[in-house]
Formats: sequence, C-alpha cells, structure tokens
Amino acid sequence: MPITKVIVLLGAWMVGEVSAAQIPPAVQACVACHGVTGEGTSQGPMLAGLSVPYISAQLENFIAGRRSNPVMSAIAQGYSNSELRYQVAVFFAGQGAAPTLQLRGEKIETTLAAQLYYQGDLQRDLPACYSCHGPGAVGAGLFPRLAGQQAAYLKEQLLAWKNHQRSGDPHNLMGNVAQKLSADDIDALAGYLSGIR
Ligand code: HEC
Ligand code: HEC
Repeated sequence: MPITKVIVLLGAWMVGEVSAAQIPPAVQACVACHGVTGEGTSQGPMLAGLSVPYISAQLENFIAGRRSNPVMSAIAQGYSNSELRYQVAVFFAGQGAAPTLQLRGEKIETTLAAQLYYQGDLQRDLPACYSCHGPGAVGAGLFPRLAGQQAAYLKEQLLAWKNHQRSGDPHNLMGNVAQKLSADDIDALAGYLSGIR
C-alpha cells in the first residue's frame, strides 16, 4: 500500500477521541450535531447517558409527530426501522461519564430550582423532579438524564410541554408537571440542571 494511502486512512480513522471505526454506520448521521461521544454541540442536545428505551422512544415520537423539530423530524424518518433505532440508542446510551449522585437532603440547597428539584411545591401540587429523575438528575430508564444537558434545550422542552407542542411521555407525566411551572421556574430549573456535572 502506498504510504500516502496509509496516511489518508489513518486521518479518517480518528474523529476526536473515538475512532471512526468505532462509530457504527447508523450513528454516522448523528455525530455532526450530537457529537462523537453524544456530548452535544451548538447544533444538537446531549444524548450521552440517556437510556436505550428513551432514545428509541424519542425517535418514534419525532416520526409520529408527537415531537416536532424541523431538523430531527426529518432525520428520524430514516429510522423507522426499530433495529436501526436500537443501534443508535445503544451507542449514545453507552457514552459519557456518570455525573455525581446527590441524594435528597444530603446538602441543604435553598435556591428556587434546587427546592423544586428536591422537594417540589406542595401548595401547587407539584411533585419533586427528584422523584422521577433521581439523585443528581442522572435519570433511569424512561426518565431521562437532565444533569449537564444544555440549558436552552431544557427550557425549550419544558415550554413545549406547557404549550402542548410535545407529547408522547408516558401517562402525560411531564405534561402535568410542566403545566404547573411558571416561566421563572423554567428558567431557574434549566440553569440549575445544566450546571450539574
Ligand atoms: C442537523 C443536526 C442534527 C442531526 C444530524 C441529528 N440531530 Fe438529533 N437533535 C437535533 C436537535 C436540534 C434536537 C432537539 C430537538 C428539539 O428541540 O425537539 C435533537 C434531538 C434529538 C433527540 C432527543 C433528545 C432528548 O433528550 O429527548 C434524540 C434522541 C436525537 N436527536 C437523536 C438523533 C439521532 C439518533 C441522530 C442520527 C440518526 C440525530 N439525532 C441526528 C439535531 C440533530
Ligand atoms: C412523575 C414523574 C416525573 C416528574 C415528577 C418529573 N418528570 Fe421530567 N420527565 C418524566 C418523563 C417520563 C420524561 C420523559 C418523557 C418522554 O418520554 O417523552 C421526562 C422528561 C423531562 C424532560 C425532557 C428531557 C429531554 O431530554 O428531552 C425535562 C426537561 C424534564 N423532564 C424536566 C423535569 C423537571 C424540571 C421536573 C420537576 C419540575 C420534572 N421533570 C419532573 C417524568 C417526570
């Protein structure tokens, strides 16, 4: 093999820290916006650490119109095959370092967002986010990880539910929560959650 060809192959091999050979073909269409390790970019939110069933369900939601985004709605159409959805979901679910777990009551936090997250608000019948998204907002299964997600993305999603533009969540669990959040709560929560590493 001529040496130039070897160099070209080596160049194509490395994409960031993950080698191109480790990126399954089904995932290659995603990395420009979501990053090679699912860390997110200015073009798309973080996917690392979301669960396999959650990622797969969201692609189905985009396909079925329960979520709508000009970019993702179009891309998801190419993933109507459940095996393809599974491949991309397994790849992104396996990326990313686990954030630090912080248990309820372990540290007294008095900001509005931390109180809503860990305690909810009884007067408004608002459940604690913690009860579903877990310690340190790491999520589990169908409850997505929120820790370290982009603030602008979190805010958009909460507003989308509040304005009935996102659905498909099991039993409208998030729809009910988002209805009870004010615009100020949403800003505070988005900033707080994106800051958890
Ligand atoms: C051109 C940019 C772009 C590409 C390419 C792209 N996405 Fe996205 N993706 C986005 C944007 C923007 C959003 C946020 C959509 C919203 O606000 O509803 C998103 C959201 C998502 C979500 C929802 C995340 C969550 O936390 O609920 C999933 C899952 C997802 N993308 C998977 C994929 C997969 C899998 C691929 C490759 C097949 C892909 N995306 C390719 C831009 C992109
Ligand atoms: C009763 C359970 C429950 C509670 C309480 C709850 N959530 Fe959720 N949340 C969910 C579920 C389930 C989903 C996934 C929805 C889906 O599959 O579309 C979700 C998704 C989200 C998402 C979208 C994440 C993404 O990647 O697109 C955000 C943001 C969110 N929740 C924020 C919050 C905040 C902030 C609170 C507290 C004010 C909260 N949640 C309380 C169940 C809950």
